[in-house]
Amino acid sequence: MTIIAPSILSADFSKLGEEIRAVEEAGAEWLHIDVMDGHFVPNITIGIPVVKSIRKVTDLFFDVHLMIDNPEKYIESFASAGADGITVHIEACKNPVPVLKAIRENKCKAGISLKPATPLDTIKDILDHIDILLIMTVNPGFGGQKFMPEVLPKIRKARKLIDESGLDILLEVDGGICKDNAKMVREAGADVLVSGSFVFRSDDYRKAIESLLL
Ligand code: DX5
Ligand code: ZN
Repeated sequence: MTIIAPSILSADFSKLGEEIRAVEEAGAEWLHIDVMDGHFVPNITIGIPVVKSIRKVTDLFFDVHLMIDNPEKYIESFASAGADGITVHIEACKNPVPVLKAIRENKCKAGISLKPATPLDTIKDILDHIDILLIMTVNPGFGGQKFMPEVLPKIRKARKLIDESGLDILLEVDGGICKDNAKMVREAGADVLVSGSFVFRSDDYRKAIESLLL
């Protein structure tokens, strides 16, 4: 079964608690939380205090996507704020293994993310340390961008790599996912679909989430 992870970046921040409860009631299992620092990406979003306060309104799995430089500095803070999974970018880590180990030591699932142009080879030797492999299908920085179909072969390759490893790694895809491409992405092998603007800009969150599973 595919997991849907709505990204709160596209939610109405003036009523974030209500928005989160609405996607939970609509069938989402994870909540994707996009953290941007204005350095690794050209945008700034939300951070630790927001994670801590929304932790009180839901039991959804908090899938924290760190688009920040020096992610190793913040693992413990995000874990204590309530993260269940913490994903860092391979492009932001000089030495990813200690960072992934720190995430697991903080009792979170350890995720690694690749920008569209970053080859899979960069992570093939560290699979043992990964619980979530997040493939980006837009360049990170903003919600509401167009899905890049040219990343599909990399998703298929990642599926194969995970299956051949025999490891328990979830393959997550993030960026521009909507009803027109969700099936392709699932067929390419994704276990988790992030969807921000498509879900939160729809009139009916349940219908939107269901349409990603058709
Ligand atoms: C992009 C973020 C994505 C984004 C998803 O930098 O990592 O998670 O918010 O939003 P949509 O689905 O609108 O592309
Ligand atoms: Zn994201």
